[in-house]
Amino acid sequence: MMEVSFKYRWRVTVLILSVTLSQCYALKCNPSDKKALLEFSAGFTGPAIFETWKAGTDCCQWWGVNCTTTGRVQELRIFNRFTPGPVAMAERNTSYKGVVGATLGDLSELRVLELSSIMFNAPMPTTFDKLKKLEELRMYLNNFTGSLSPSIGGATSLKLFTFDGRPYFPPSGFVPAPIPSTFCQLTKLRTLELTTVGFTGKIPPCFCKLVQLTHLHLYESNLQGEVPSCIGETVQNLESLQLTSNKLTGPIPATLGRLKKLQTLYLGQNRFTGSIPPEIGNLLSLKNLNLGSNSLTGSIPAWLGRLSELQSLDLSNNLFTRFPSELGKLVKLQYLSLSTNKLQGNLPSEIGNCGSGIADDWSSLYIDISNNRLSGSIPDVFGSGKIWSFNASNNLFTGGFPLSLAMVGTVDVSHNLLWYLKQVGRLPASPVMIRLYLQNNRFSGPVPTWFTELMTRAEHLSEVDISVNKFTGSVPMALFGSFGLWRSNASYNSFNGSLPTELFRSGLGFLDLSHNRVSGPIASGFFSSLLESMFQLDLSFNALSGPLPQNSGDFTALNYLDLSDNNLSGKVPASVEKIPTLQFLDLAHNKFTGRVPSKRPPPPP
Ligand SMILES: *[C@@H]1O[C@H](CO)[C@@H](O)[C@H](O)[C@H]1NC(C)=O
Ligand SMILES: *[C@@H]1O[C@H](CO)[C@@H](O)[C@H](O)[C@H]1NC(C)=O
Ligand SMILES: *[C@@H]1O[C@H](CO)[C@@H](O)[C@H](O)[C@H]1NC(C)=O
Ligand SMILES: *[C@@H]1O[C@H](CO)[C@@H](O)[C@H](O)[C@H]1NC(C)=O
Ligand SMILES: *[C@@H]1O[C@H](CO)[C@@H](O)[C@H](O)[C@H]1NC(C)=O
Ligand SMILES: *[C@@H]1O[C@H](CO)[C@@H](O)[C@H](O)[C@H]1NC(C)=O
Ligand SMILES: *[C@@H]1O[C@H](CO)[C@@H](O)[C@H](O)[C@H]1NC(C)=O
Repeated sequence: MMEVSFKYRWRVTVLILSVTLSQCYALKCNPSDKKALLEFSAGFTGPAIFETWKAGTDCCQWWGVNCTTTGRVQELRIFNRFTPGPVAMAERNTSYKGVVGATLGDLSELRVLELSSIMFNAPMPTTFDKLKKLEELRMYLNNFTGSLSPSIGGATSLKLFTFDGRPYFPPSGFVPAPIPSTFCQLTKLRTLELTTVGFTGKIPPCFCKLVQLTHLHLYESNLQGEVPSCIGETVQNLESLQLTSNKLTGPIPATLGRLKKLQTLYLGQNRFTGSIPPEIGNLLSLKNLNLGSNSLTGSIPAWLGRLSELQSLDLSNNLFTRFPSELGKLVKLQYLSLSTNKLQGNLPSEIGNCGSGIADDWSSLYIDISNNRLSGSIPDVFGSGKIWSFNASNNLFTGGFPLSLAMVGTVDVSHNLLWYLKQVGRLPASPVMIRLYLQNNRFSGPVPTWFTELMTRAEHLSEVDISVNKFTGSVPMALFGSFGLWRSNASYNSFNGSLPTELFRSGLGFLDLSHNRVSGPIASGFFSSLLESMFQLDLSFNALSGPLPQNSGDFTALNYLDLSDNNLSGKVPASVEKIPTLQFLDLAHNKFTGRVPSKRPPPPP
């Protein structure tokens, strides 16, 4: 009997203890904060986000809530927990009834507030001015309707304010409006990021009062007018200024040259005019400079060579005329785009030094000088192994193909006037080249030995295009693919000779030999090595003759087959039409007998 009673008493003690404990817990949360949170969550319809937000429990334990030791809510982070997918879709399918967060202003100890990836489809809260201790405000992808609440300007402790106006999918319910001038009261701000908003009006000149700013990001909006030049005079701690994709006009303010700590300056995709002010040459900490897609004129300044920390330089889509050799001093560059300007004259050989000082083994340089009027020959200076991509397409380069380019992964020298067939420079022992574009040049005569040798030595070569030249003689075997070659295009040349009767280890997916003078039969041995890999085969506009081989219908991945405009004869094997993957088929203008499958147009895009 004694034993039972002891057990009983023990149970009662445990019960009392746990009740007391849970009461302690429940007491942790400040009742008025809890009330404010519950009223906030009550506005939501639908989602599972608030499953832990139950009236009878401690609000400090709720998902997204963090309290001070005295039970006051100091952090509230409400965001969609899932990356896109069906569950996330359901959560996103939230909407809000009433005024979002009318009671949020009661959380007077709040320091951090995040509302992200939730489709409110309602106006944003207007009580931010009551949050006098708020230091961080993050709002992304919320599809608020209306405009940014001017009350945010009253949250005067804010150090970080980021807002991204995008909804997940257009349309957005945001109404374009100017940046509220109340934001100029936020003088403690270090980071101000108002992106993808679709503002109207100008950058408020009173932003120059936000002197603690290190990051000012106002990209992808509709801001107009000039950049207030006082920013360069007062906001001296600025490290990152990003104003990309607006409608800003006027010259780039020379005062920006005073921002000695600036590392990132993005002014691309605007309507800036004039030349680059020489004061920008004082920004010796600059790592990223993007002035692309404006209407800037003059020479590319030689003093850019002083900005030795530069890692990315984008001056594309402007009206610049001269390429200074001093750019070769930018040895840390990983991205250089001067594409689509009016650059004239020779390409300085110093370009080969760009990127040579990249310390990290995994980084390399991407160069784009396409769409200009550069002329003379391409210097043979690309052997550093640090240049990963070189695009010189659509210029006026003459001369030959410098073989140090074999040490570059992607090489595009198409649409130039290259013609010289003799070897320029030495072919590296182990080329790293992956893609080579030589189309639309002036090469003529038989394919030179350096080309065949390059094709054979470059183990990783997967794409080659030599179309639209005047090559003659027979198609080099290398174009039919060693093991890694996937796309080969030799169309629009004057190759004659016949197709090989068999191939060794080809894995070609795309072969275009159309518009040449290739004659003779198609051997079944030629097809048999391509049956599994070939995706698109174009042999049209040649002089191929004889019947189609019996294995013509055995392709397993073929999507596109064009054999039109040849001299092929005999019966078309019935299996050709039954290739399960085939979408496009053209056998017209041959001498086939019997039933010829009619042309199958490509599927609509
Ligand atoms: C609450 O926030 C404080 C300060 O940011 C942090 O140290 C603490 O780990 C947070 N607690 C929880 C449960 O997230
Ligand atoms: C979104 O909500 C509407 C109406 O409540 C419903 O018909 C629709 O199926 C929901 N969509 C998703 C992806 O949950
Ligand atoms: C965003 O708001 C607009 C206008 O209010 C609405 O048409 C659109 O469906 C909303 N998008 C989402 C994903 O809820
Ligand atoms: C090179 O630049 C041209 C023009 O800007 C572009 O069309 C082409 O795709 C680029 N080549 C490569 C390999 O990216
Ligand atoms: C081959 O090059 C020609 C001319 O440059 C082009 O029209 C054609 O689309 C290319 N073929 C393939 C398969 O890419
Ligand atoms: C191919 O063309 C060259 C001239 O360019 C000619 O000498 C040669 O005999 C031709 N070969 C064939 C097989 O027609
Ligand atoms: C087409 O082939 C026939 C033999 O089948 C030959 O007599 C004729 O010359 C060839 N025509 C062309 C243009 O190659």
